[in-house]
Amino acid sequence: MNTKSKNLFQVCRLLEDSACANTKWRPKFHLSPRTGWMNDPNGLCRFGDTYHIFFQYSPYSTCPGTNFWGHFTTDDFVSYEYHKPAICVDEKFDCHGVYSGSAIVKDSKLQIFYTGNVKLCGDGYDYITAGREHNTVTAFSNDGLTFPKKRMLMANSDYPDDVTCHVRDPKVFERGGSYYMVLGARTIDDIGQVLVYKSEDALDWKLHGRFESDEKFGFMWECPDLYELDGQWFLAVSPQGVDADGIKYNNIYQSGYFPVDGFEGGECKAGEFTEIDRGFDFYAPQSFSDNEGRRIMIGWLGLPDLDGIYENPTHEYGWMHMLTVPRVLTNRGGKLYQQPIEELAALRRTSVKRIVDGDAKFSNADVFELYAENISSDEFTIEIKNDCKIRYADGLITLSFGESGRGRTSRSAEIAGPENIRVLCDTSAIEIFVNDGAEAFASRFYPEESERGVKVIGKCASCTVWELGGFEIKNKSKEE
Ligand code: FRU
Repeated sequence: MNTKSKNLFQVCRLLEDSACANTKWRPKFHLSPRTGWMNDPNGLCRFGDTYHIFFQYSPYSTCPGTNFWGHFTTDDFVSYEYHKPAICVDEKFDCHGVYSGSAIVKDSKLQIFYTGNVKLCGDGYDYITAGREHNTVTAFSNDGLTFPKKRMLMANSDYPDDVTCHVRDPKVFERGGSYYMVLGARTIDDIGQVLVYKSEDALDWKLHGRFESDEKFGFMWECPDLYELDGQWFLAVSPQGVDADGIKYNNIYQSGYFPVDGFEGGECKAGEFTEIDRGFDFYAPQSFSDNEGRRIMIGWLGLPDLDGIYENPTHEYGWMHMLTVPRVLTNRGGKLYQQPIEELAALRRTSVKRIVDGDAKFSNADVFELYAENISSDEFTIEIKNDCKIRYADGLITLSFGESGRGRTSRSAEIAGPENIRVLCDTSAIEIFVNDGAEAFASRFYPEESERGVKVIGKCASCTVWELGGFEIKNKSKEE
């Protein structure tokens, strides 16, 4: 680590101590930045017995800035260690941000890939077709904590001629002894697509193909991910520039997936796009395989460019945004289902279980999990903290807020009828999983501390509410 990075880390520590002193709206079981701004999860992997969760981190203000990679580790998704930022801006090729990327374990090392963002100074740049470098960079670590050497792998001149300067967010995986990298791209014609590179050594990369939709679907596809689940390949992307269409695509930017056919035969063909989460605050998810057959996905429980759309008042307390809980993905007939990772059950404390027939008020809990199953009424409503409603009626499941939504009104998805609903409610975030995770909704909301409890209206054979404990997070950054 060079002297510039060391000095930056010292400043981070001072800021982190003061932002952590105020606990209002601080989540209990979601990872949030100790200070400043957090966005995409990066470099998700299991290295030895330890899971690594890096994230886009701009510690100096509650706005996105010159991002680093912040860093948490865990062995069980309940107790965490917070480390000093793993990668910092300290080279010419990443001087305006260590942008999003991924990790692989190779030759007993943790190897990461990211985009080095550079904004050139000069007149007349639009920063789309000129004035910006998006360099693909790699770095290696023996201990998973320090990445002593960075190496640039590709520069703008290495990408195809018909793409703009926007080529970023390398996601790398190994398949059949070869390595593949997907990169999000914006073409000169303003079309979002994904470039696929292939390599035998994860250092020397050659263009292998491209994914694009039959018709234009947004101008930029950020944060691509490509994986196989039970015989079906999926390409996940976060497209920008897609117009709302009824109840679909209602957020400023979207996140979802295309089923993919023929990838292993050398084809890159994407099917129809499905949104992965229908809530107000979900973007840039990344997944990894934990080598035990689980495909685990974490999303950013936030979105960029929300000014004037809805509010996130924690900037008053010096921090912004959080990550979703890890979700396990499964493929049911070509559709992705998601469930909170089972390790979270260790957070359950006292519980109340009831049959609901009419109207049932549950505990006064602030931070809780609710699971309603065998729902049998045509209408079914869960009311949380007097202001958040999850309601099923007429084939639609709808999440809505009053004042606590700070501008978030309602989001809906079609479902055949609710069979079960799981809700994870944190101090200022909620995640909802409907029908075994066929639909999911992630959202921030900002109830006052005096607003508590949950009410269920309808009929179900069993509804359980557990009060939840919080994550234990050890701050290791001071010793590092
Ligand atoms: C997605 C994104 C990525 C980029 C990163 C920068 O939220 O815009 O495309 O790498 O954030 O923080």
